[in-house]
Amino acid sequence: GDVGPLIVKSLKMLEYRGYDSSGIAVTDGREIRVVKGVGTVDRVVSEVPSGFAGVGHTRWATHGGVTDYNAHPHPDCRNRAVVVHNGIIENYRELREELVSRGHAFRSETDSEVIVHLYEEAPGSPREKVEYVLSRLRGSYAFVILTVDGVLVGARNGAPLVLGSGKGVFMVASDPLPVLQITDRILRLSDGEFFVYDGSLSYSGSSAFVRVSWTPEMAEKGGYRHFMLKEIHEQPEVFRRTLSYLKTQELPDLEGRVDIVAAGTSFHAALYGEYVLRPFADVRAYIASEYPYWSRDPDMIVAVSQSGETEDVLSILRGAEVPVLAITNVPGSTITQYADRVVYTQAGPEIGVAATKTYLAQLTVFAWMAGLDLSGLDEKIEDSLRVNVDPVAAFLSGKRSMFFLGRGLHTVTAREGALKIKEIAYIHAEAYPAGESKHGPISLVERDFPVLFILHGDATFHDTLSNIQEMGARGAKIILVTDTEERGDFTLTVPSSDPQLFPLVSVIPLQLLAYETAVLLGRNPDRPRNLAKSVTVK
Ligand code: M6R
Repeated sequence: GDVGPLIVKSLKMLEYRGYDSSGIAVTDGREIRVVKGVGTVDRVVSEVPSGFAGVGHTRWATHGGVTDYNAHPHPDCRNRAVVVHNGIIENYRELREELVSRGHAFRSETDSEVIVHLYEEAPGSPREKVEYVLSRLRGSYAFVILTVDGVLVGARNGAPLVLGSGKGVFMVASDPLPVLQITDRILRLSDGEFFVYDGSLSYSGSSAFVRVSWTPEMAEKGGYRHFMLKEIHEQPEVFRRTLSYLKTQELPDLEGRVDIVAAGTSFHAALYGEYVLRPFADVRAYIASEYPYWSRDPDMIVAVSQSGETEDVLSILRGAEVPVLAITNVPGSTITQYADRVVYTQAGPEIGVAATKTYLAQLTVFAWMAGLDLSGLDEKIEDSLRVNVDPVAAFLSGKRSMFFLGRGLHTVTAREGALKIKEIAYIHAEAYPAGESKHGPISLVERDFPVLFILHGDATFHDTLSNIQEMGARGAKIILVTDTEERGDFTLTVPSSDPQLFPLVSVIPLQLLAYETAVLLGRNPDRPRNLAKSVTVK
């Protein structure tokens, strides 16, 4: 049948992976029709071409600006084949020069376009052609080539590619969600492997089809205005699900030097892990992209990545010579191929670009590893969801900059709160340990400057109170997230909990606050500018 509508629907499910440009190419056996340009799928593909085979792409620009020409799919010289590609072709300059010298005409500035020209000039069957292409490429890629006669050929190296067949339909995508529309059995290619589909499927390597318990409905908004809001509200359930899964798992052994590596929000979870696991081993958390410059010859690596596809993390694991424990949310993601052991957060698909429920699930895993008593915490998480953040969001929507402060473990929550509000509301936010204010940052404070404190009644309480006084004395508007009786100009009161578990409760109003502020400012919290959900490049 006509695959155009299915490709468009599937692209929308993948749009969270990148959304600066989009495109689709469909063949009817005589010609390939390409529709592509800058913008979302809905905007660009308003008229869906029809045909029996096709490819589509949403882009997060790396090589070549955000222009219509640089949007994928990219055709070869004769429009007999097109390519869509994720990743970076490192030797594209040499290849391009070589191809141009042989008469190929390039129409974009991307690294991706070399793939289709190499395919064009390769001799032999589709299988021989793709083998030739792979022998020439260096870098990371997941690509699919569509030919005018409807053959699909693809390969992966360092970026995900998922295959599946349903009744009369074959699909390949960069994540399982679209494929789950037609089947619950998927095959993930491994690095260096390729496939050819010409009416029947053949592929290299020994990967097998596996059943996946996610359903495409899990990736729907379920009545919420945005995915992010839905995902914030799923957290009590995510916590319960993750906990009951963990109860069936054996506790990992931590010995010697344990390095935790992660990026973004997952790095904040790693910091939490460092804090709660310190009594058991010599644990340190590292920002993955910085790790090569700071690593210290560990006995074990714990890698945290929601998507399991973050290149900054994967590149550490590729060379690792010590046991690797991966904590990820996506079954079968690339990180699982590099890990000796995998612990899955049971958050279900997270579509909002801002990580929320997966952060909570990562904290849950570390709390479990530290042997903390998690009983009854789901109710506190539920209560935290009821905190009314609206007045604070209204206040913040008129501000351009703010501080998030805490002491000890609560600095981690401050960092996560600041990342959320920067990421989706575009308000500049700085997070640091509260005691550092007087060493410099306080000079930024003037009348009504927003300063949010995470205040727990634990050992950090009295010193944090002093910092609150110092800020208040200089005209700052104090926003408290607290389980104490203290009051600020705004107070978000959350249920009281063990200090080491407070991060699981106190982060909730910060997520809500970022969300409500973004919405008030007219930003789309699910798709913040310049970002993509999985960052598969360095
Ligand atoms: O998939 P990962 O957990 O490896 O992703 C890491 C970061 O890119 C991610 O947490 C990012 O910081 C989020 N957008 C934050 O909300």
